[in-house]
Order: sequence, then structure tokens, then C-alpha cells
Amino acid sequence: MKISFIGAGNMTQAFLKGLDRSFFEHEVWVSNRSQGKLDGIDDPNITKTIDNHKAVHNADVVVLAVKPQQLFALLDEIRADIKADAILISLAAGLRMDQLEKGLFPKVKLIRFMPNTAIAIGIGSIAMCHNGNVKASELAFIKQLFKACGSLLELNEDQFELFIAASGSGIAFVYQIMATYVQTLVNLGLEEALAKSLITESFFAASSMAKINPDLDDLMTRVASKGGTTIEGLKVLRSSQLHEILMEMCQKTILRSKQLGEELQK
Ligand SMILES: NC(=O)c1ccc[n+]([C@@H]2O[C@H](COP(=O)([O-])OP(=O)(O)OC[C@H]3O[C@@H](n4cnc5c(N)ncnc54)[C@H](OP(=O)(O)O)[C@@H]3O)[C@@H](O)[C@H]2O)c1
Repeated sequence: MKISFIGAGNMTQAFLKGLDRSFFEHEVWVSNRSQGKLDGIDDPNITKTIDNHKAVHNADVVVLAVKPQQLFALLDEIRADIKADAILISLAAGLRMDQLEKGLFPKVKLIRFMPNTAIAIGIGSIAMCHNGNVKASELAFIKQLFKACGSLLELNEDQFELFIAASGSGIAFVYQIMATYVQTLVNLGLEEALAKSLITESFFAASSMAKINPDLDDLMTRVASKGGTTIEGLKVLRSSQLHEILMEMCQKTILRSKQLGEELQK
């Protein structure tokens, strides 16, 4: 099988780090319009090129890893090179499958992936959906191909925006919360490196515990004994605007995803 990534930016580089050896038993190509990012890919199992036509020619799987704003121009460029039975995977935020199909050809086999950058270390979350031209066996093949990157979750396309708020963009929101927490501890007198290490460990511990026991209220109760320290901090959080802030954060993210789709439709 020939598998080609078009665009060698953040997402392609994250996939290339997270994928396992079985993936590289296939013929893997990466193309980028400029040389710079290709120079950073140093793997003898990958063929690099600035020529998208060469990368797409005869490819069985084509991962479209350019920015949403760059995608339609790319499709215009490579449409004629795409094999009729190739499986196309779009990573583009905001662009729905019906919009992408218009830029392609009838019967195109199209999958949408919405990953986050944790795919680079095999613990990413990838939402996926597909059009009616993708067979069950092809879907199973794609899931197998990318499984080393993390969990693949089949979602209805109308849930993608919520997934972006939770995972695709969500991972960055968690970083921001961590950074603010670190800064708060620094302001209170903790040395920055130590604050960062403690907060990183707390987030890791909390998410690991929640994977074992998904009952978050129960987990909190086990930390917050009556009359203790934790309950005082939790009272502050619970009476704050936290819910409103997170609601606005998600709503703005979802809105931008919708806008991207609308802007690019014109
Ligand atoms: N970053 C995330 O966390 C994330 C999460 C979920 C989904 N996504 C989606 O993943 C896609 C890629 O995002 P990204 O963060 O990887 O973007 P990025 O870092 O900007 O990478 C895009 C790459 O595509 C290249 N490119 C642009 N037009 C091209 C063309 N016509 N032919 C070949 N290469 C071309 C760019 O080349 P130059 O080096 O010349 O600019 C750049 O290296 C986007 O659609 C985004 O919505 C990203």
C-alpha cells in the first residue's frame, strides 16, 4: 500500500511520531509545498517530496494535512492524480464531508479525522466519520493502520465540533489551565520548575485515576474530607464563574469551527 501525507506540519509530524512499525511496512510518502518542514523529517522509511502530484500518484491512502484555508486549492491541484479507489482522510477542522465531496469527484471514499496532538505519543484521541463510499473493510483497515496513535472514536459528523472543544482544541485548553495554575503557585512563592512538575503530576494523576474510576464526584469526595483543606478550595471553584467560562470557551471554539466551514464555502 502507498500512504501519502500532504502537508508536513504539526499534525503530520505528530502522526509520524505516534505511528508504529507496522505502518512503515507500507510505502509512506510526505509532501510539502516548501522544503523547510520536510528537512525536519529524518526517517529512511519515508519518501519526501515537494511535488504533490508524485505523492498522490498511485496512493491508496491520502491524508490531507493542510490548513482548512489551504485545502480547496490543494484539491484543485491534486484531484486528477487521485486514484478512483483511494481513501482520502481529511484532518481539516470545520470542513464538513459534503463540502469536501464537492471539491472532489463522485464516489470518492472520504474519511474525516479529528485528532489531537497527543497522537505523537500514542495517547491521542481521534474522532472519525466517513461517507457512504467507504466500505466496512476499508474502515477496519484504516482503524488498524492508525491504532498506535491512540483511540479512534466513530462519531456522527454533527458531534465533531463538540469533539474539537473537548479534544482537538481541548488539549490546549488544559495546557492553559495548567499554565495558570503554575503561575498562581509561582506567585505564592513556589519555584517555577517545581510548580510545573507538581502540576503536571497532579494532572497526570487525576486523569489516570479518572480512567480507572470515572465517577468524578466520588474521586473528589475521597480527597475532600469534611473540615479539611480541599473542601475550602473546592468551595471557591464551585461558587466561581468556572462553568460560565468553560461554556464560553467551548461555544467560541464551536462557533469558529462553524465559521471556518461557512467562510470556505463561499
Ligand atoms: N494542530 C492541531 O492540533 C490540529 C488538531 C486537529 C486538526 N487539525 C487539522 O489538521 C490540519 C493540519 O494542521 P496543522 O496544525 O498540521 O497545520 P500546519 O502546521 O500549518 O501544517 C500545514 C502544512 O501544510 C503545508 N501546505 C500548505 N499548502 C500546501 C500544499 N498545497 N501542498 C503541500 N503542502 C502544503 C504547509 O507548508 P508550509 O511549510 O510551506 O507552510 C504546512 O507545512 C488542519 O486542517 C487542521 O485543521 C490540527
